[in-house]
Amino acid sequence: MKYRRCGRSGVLLPEISLGLWHNFGGGDDRAQNAAIIGRAMELGICHFDLADNYGPPPGSAEERFGSLLKQEFAGHRDEMFIATKAGHLMWPGPYGDWGSRKHLISGLDQSLRRLQLDYVDVFYHHRPDPDTPIEETVEALVQIVRSGKALYIGLSKYPPALFNRACTLLAEAHVPCLLHQLRYNLLDRACEAGQLPAAKAQGTGSIVFSPLAQGMLTGKYLNTTALPAGSRAERSDSIFLDADKVATDARRVAELQAVATEAGLPLTQLALRWLLQRSEVTSVLIGARTVAQLEECAAAAGQPALADELMNLLSAE
Ligand SMILES: NC(=O)c1ccc[n+]([C@@H]2O[C@H](COP(=O)([O-])OP(=O)(O)OC[C@H]3O[C@@H](n4cnc5c(N)ncnc54)[C@H](OP(=O)(O)O)[C@@H]3O)[C@@H](O)[C@H]2O)c1
Repeated sequence: MKYRRCGRSGVLLPEISLGLWHNFGGGDDRAQNAAIIGRAMELGICHFDLADNYGPPPGSAEERFGSLLKQEFAGHRDEMFIATKAGHLMWPGPYGDWGSRKHLISGLDQSLRRLQLDYVDVFYHHRPDPDTPIEETVEALVQIVRSGKALYIGLSKYPPALFNRACTLLAEAHVPCLLHQLRYNLLDRACEAGQLPAAKAQGTGSIVFSPLAQGMLTGKYLNTTALPAGSRAERSDSIFLDADKVATDARRVAELQAVATEAGLPLTQLALRWLLQRSEVTSVLIGARTVAQLEECAAAAGQPALADELMNLLSAE
C-alpha cells in the first residue's frame, strides 16, 4: 500500500480506504466482516470510514465494527485511522439530524458507545445544514476536538463557499479541517468544478467516495438480463442503487468498458486508477462485500501512471 499526506497535516492515509456504509450491517455475516477487515489490515488499508447511520439498521455498522475491534482486532487500535460522522437522520424529533451543536455532540456520544471507543480519529459533519449557522456547527466540531472525542475534523459534501467559510472558522480556532469527503467517479465528476480545487487551496485532503459508482463501474451490470444475485442493485435492503439507476447509466458504462477492453485492463482497475492519478485525491474510499472485491480494489494502489492517451479517453465526456 502507498500512503499519501492528507493536505497540510501530519496524517498519512492509504491510497485505498475501506468504507462500511454497506455490507457491515446487523444482517451481514460477522465472520465475513472479520475476514474483510483482517485482509484490509494485511494489505495496509488502515483507514476505516463509518457513520452513525450506516447499517442497516442505522447504528449497526458501528456496533459491528466496535465488536470486531473489541474481539478480533483488540490491540490494533493505534494502527487504524477510524472515522465516523453525524448529520443525517438518526433519531426522531428535532435533534436527530442536521448540524446543531445538540445533534453533533449527542450523535458522536452515541457513536462512541456503539464503537466502544473513547475517541475517533476523524469526526465529520456528514452534510451541510441549510438552517443552522455555520458558526454553531463549527463551534460544536471544535468543542469535540477539545474534549478529546475526535482527533481531527472532516466535512462531507459541502458546497465550495460554505466549505471555505467553515475552513476559515476552523483554522481560526486552531482545529484545521483535515478532510473533505466527496462523491467522485467516472460517472459523476461534479466535484471537479469547485469542491476539489477548494480543498486543495485550503490545504485539506480529499477522500472520494463511491469510486465504482456503487459497483456499476465494475461492468458487472452490463450484458445481463437479470441483476446479479446479491449485488447492491438487486438487494432489497439497499435503497441507493436499483435497476432504474443501472439502466440510466448503462450506455456510459458500456463506453467505458469498451475503453477498458481495448486497454486490456479490468474496468474496476481503470476506474480506481483514474481517480488515484488526480493529484487532488488523497484517498479513494471503496466498499467491499467480499475479500476478493477488496483485493481487486486494493490492487489499484501503487500502480504506474496510466498513459495520457488512456486518461484522455476515460475523461472524454
Ligand atoms: N459522505 C457520504 O455522504 C458518503 C456517501 C456514500 C459513501 N460514502 C463512503 O464511501 C464508501 C464507499 O462507497 P461505495 O460503497 O458506494 O463505494 P464503491 O466502491 O463505489 O461501491 C462498492 C460496491 O461495489 C461492488 N464492488 C466493489 N468491488 C467490486 C469488484 N471487484 N467486483 C464487483 N463488484 C465490486 C460491491 O457491491 P455489490 O454488493 O454489488 O457486490 C461493493 O459493495 C462507503 O462505505 C462510505 O464509507 C460516504
